Amino acid sequence: MIRLISLLLVLSVPALAETPEGDAERGRLKFGSCRTCHYPEQAVGHNNGPSLWNIFNKRVGSQPGFDYYSDALKQADFVWTPELMNVWLADPQNFLPGNMMMSKGIADAQDRADVIEYLKTFSEAP
Ligand code: HEC
Repeated sequence: MIRLISLLLVLSVPALAETPEGDAERGRLKFGSCRTCHYPEQAVGHNNGPSLWNIFNKRVGSQPGFDYYSDALKQADFVWTPELMNVWLADPQNFLPGNMMMSKGIADAQDRADVIEYLKTFSEAP
């Protein structure tokens, strides 16, 4: 069901339908702006933002031990997929209005794909 919703969401936004292939090494560099607030390494934990360790297949707004989620994230009800991450990073305020992530996201589709590919490597099952 979640997959179906994310598919519909992606198809309904023409600019997002054509997702370029990501490159984790490029993504590592582009993740620099996110690193001010997020660590993806399991051992490091939370920063100003929640840890992004193993974020895919997790419910939004539910990283254990992060106490500063906005109601927008706490009340959202979906599981992170690469497709939804792409929509979130394209325009965070539009996707989940009222969120407290002080970031405009990533405007460039290739950059988004690279960062998503990088984040995928921080997972129990990469
Ligand atoms: C200024 C700090 C800051 C920056 C920069 C930032 N974030 Fe965030 N991020 C946050 C905060 C705070 C939250 C929680 C927002 C809320 O609860 O409304 C969040 C939430 C998230 C979530 C949802 C996590 C969950 O547990 O559901 C993801 C995914 C995410 N950020 C990815 C990124 C990526 C990728 C970047 C780089 C483009 C980035 N963020 C840049 C602070 C930041």
